[in-house]
Formats: sequence, C-alpha cells, structure tokens
Amino acid sequence: MSTVTKTALQESAERHLWMNFSRLGAPVEGHELPIMVRGEGCYVWDEHGKRYLDALSSLFCVNIGHGWTEVSQAGADQAKELEYYPAWSAAHPPVIRLAERIASLAPGDLNRVFFTSGGGESVDSAIKLARQHFKVAGKPLKTKIIARDGAYHGTTMGALSATGIQVARQPFEPLMPGGSHVSNTDVYHRPDGFDAGSLAQEFEDRILFEGPDTVAAILVEPVQTAGGCYTPPDGYFQRVRDICDQYDVLMVSDEVICAWGRLGEWFGCQRYGYVPDIITTAKGLTSAYAPMGAVIVRDSVAEPFLRTGELFQHGFTFAGHPVSAAVAMANLDVFEREGLLDNVRANEGLLRSTLEALRDIPVVGDVRGAGYFQAVELVKDAATHTRFSASESDTVLHWVADELFDRGLIFRADDRSGSPVIQVAPPLTFGPGEIAEMGALIRPVVEEVAERFGAGS
Ligand SMILES: Cc1ncc(COP(=O)(O)O)c(C=O)c1O
Repeated sequence: MSTVTKTALQESAERHLWMNFSRLGAPVEGHELPIMVRGEGCYVWDEHGKRYLDALSSLFCVNIGHGWTEVSQAGADQAKELEYYPAWSAAHPPVIRLAERIASLAPGDLNRVFFTSGGGESVDSAIKLARQHFKVAGKPLKTKIIARDGAYHGTTMGALSATGIQVARQPFEPLMPGGSHVSNTDVYHRPDGFDAGSLAQEFEDRILFEGPDTVAAILVEPVQTAGGCYTPPDGYFQRVRDICDQYDVLMVSDEVICAWGRLGEWFGCQRYGYVPDIITTAKGLTSAYAPMGAVIVRDSVAEPFLRTGELFQHGFTFAGHPVSAAVAMANLDVFEREGLLDNVRANEGLLRSTLEALRDIPVVGDVRGAGYFQAVELVKDAATHTRFSASESDTVLHWVADELFDRGLIFRADDRSGSPVIQVAPPLTFGPGEIAEMGALIRPVVEEVAERFGAGS
C-alpha cells in the first residue's frame, strides 16, 4: 500500500485523465502525481504549495517564463473581439500581422508562413509540402525523407517516420513509407581520431542509395534534442546545405525547440549560419501561453504553387487561431522589450560553466549544447567514456529524475543516447541567481550518482 494520501484531483486524474507518454493507473508505490497549479517567472508551484525551479521552460516552450499577464491579456482581448475565424478562404488581422512579423525575423527569403497547432503538425505539414512541391514542380517521385538516428520530430504518423526513436515508432508500424536515418552528431562516443566531417557526408551517401530522384527532404534540428543536445561539428550544416542543393532536396530545419531565442537567436539556423528551405516551429512562438505552430517557407518552395495556381491540399481548423496569433504577437513584444536574446547571449557562458564545473565528478562524461539548451551525460567512468549497462542506466535515470524533482528542479531526464542525461532549457529570463540555484541542486545529486553507481562504487 502506498503511504501517500491522494488528493481529490490526483484521484480524479488517475480515474479519467490519459496523460501523454504515461502509464495508466496509479503511480508506482511511494510516488504521487504532481499537480501544478501556478507559475511566476522561473518557478511553478504544485497543489501542496511546493515551489520548483523550472529549468526546462516546462517542456522547452515557456521561453519568456511564467506569469506575464500582458500576454494572457492579449489572448483575452482578442477572444472578446473575434474569438475565431478560420485562416482558410478568409484571413483576420492577427494572423496576417504575425505572418509578416515571422517572415521579417526569419533568415533569407523564408517569407511565407503556414500555421499549425503545434510541432508535430508543423513537421507533418512540412513533409506534405515537400511532397506536393515536387509533384507540382514535375518531379512526382520525390517523396522520401531522411532524418537522423535518435531524433524526435513528433508523434503524428508523418512526423513519426522522421522520428528516429525505436520505442516511439514500433507500436504504430507500419509508418509512412520512405523515412530513413543517418547518424546523428554524437561524437563523444566515437573513437579518438574520428572524422566528424563524415557525418554530413552520410546524407549524400543515403541520397545516392535511395536514388536522388526519390528524395524530397532531409530533416535536421540545429541542436538535436533527443540524446541530449548534440551540436553540429564545424561546417556540418554548410555541407548538408550543399548536398541538398546538389540533389534538389529540401532542407528542413526542425526548430520546434531551437527557435525563439533558445540558442540566442530568433532561429537556430542563424546560430550556425545556414539558410534552410523550410523551418518548422511551435513552442516558444507563443511561449506556450496558447497552442500554435508554424511552417516557414522559402519563396522558391512556394514558387511552383504560385506559378501553377495549384492548392496546397492541407490545413487544420485551428491553424492560425486568432487568440494564439494575438498571444504570439504579445510574446514577441516581451522578447524584444526585455532583450531576451541578449540575456541568453550574456549568460549562456555562465550556464555552461556551471555545468562544466561538474566535470570533477567521475560520472560526468560530457557537457554539451548551445545557448540556453545544455546537457550533462552521465557515464559509469568518465575517464574511459564507459557507459552504464542498460539496466544501470535505467536505474540511474529514474533515480536522478526522482531525486532532482523532489529537491524542486524541473529538468529533462533523457536516455536516448544510451546514457542518462540531465538536460536543461531554462526560460530565457534565467539570470545568474537562477543558474547558481540550479547548479547547487544538481551537484549533490550527481555526486551521489558517483557514490552509488560510479565505477568505484
Ligand atoms: C524537434 C521537435 N520536433 C517536433 C516536436 C513535436 O512537437 P509537438 O509536441 O508540439 O507536436 C518536438 C517536440 O518536442 C520537437 O522537439
């Protein structure tokens, strides 16, 4: 019998609520379902009044932090004026203004914006857009997509064929055909002397294997989330861009997480100096004060549709919802007025050095990431890069997840790399005080991992 007395909300949730990526039924013995009731700045509170430092922007999305009433108010004001009208055969001012603003922030000639309700819909829309683009352009065989091992691109059926995570795919097979994967940019577990240049080259090899006439798009995140913030080697994206140009393959930069200041720029591709053909985004666009996603497209991708008058046969009822669009505008106002990109650039070094300082603990293998998006990979023995066994890794991951959460830290515990990873993506308002608080919470927990589970334990 669990010793925890359940609240009425916990009992109701257990009976009626089917949560995402969660087991049904009662939490395991000794655990309770956390119920969050309030947020302010970089903190959230649960129903018992316990405070948590939100070092994950809740789910990589509350980029401006919690509790900006002007952003919620903008949604309420829009709901009073015009709560809904579809962006189908008519438009409305908020969605037009937002499309223009996004286009003005996006790099190069990414001038056209197709709205969705979230990240997976954005990725699905980009895949469908790439396919129809080539059909209209007279290359109907170009339908396949190539993504990277371990990457998460969403759970809708199209996006899932880009997602390279076996456990997320297997229950739903067969998936959309034509999705394949190349290596991601995990170099920590490669042997000494490994040529990181070969990683981008894998895209060309895969395109040639599939047949260039059959490949529509490749999908890459600027920094790959799953596995723990894999950054690109030097010149990686420039080589991928060249390969896409050479074989007439659309380069999709999946920035559901990496846009909107996460890497210190409006868009992640700007940090690495490449211009993709399509950017998929969501999350920080509204800082999650309302659901919204977007697909931002180069003029050249729209061109066959303009030239032929062909319809993009695709849309969603809630795409470009006026309330979400008004919220997005107010969110971007906060970004600009508060100088949030500058705050990330000013403090990302401190965030990184706070995590780097953990390297004196013998289970801290790698520290990697960019901007306000960083990860610490835990291994059995950092001196030799030796991983924990699969069962140890699972034990460590759950132990760390529970321990840090109990101490009041919201972060992401990831094991998609085959090792337990502590990942943080704090609100862009995080300053030196919150960074120090986060570091002080993480250090004793990682020290205890070394004592309990490390090579010398
Ligand atoms: C890179 C990437 N693409 C797509 C998605 C799917 O977004 P959503 O959960 O809004 O469908 C995510 C979600 O985290 C993501 O990180």
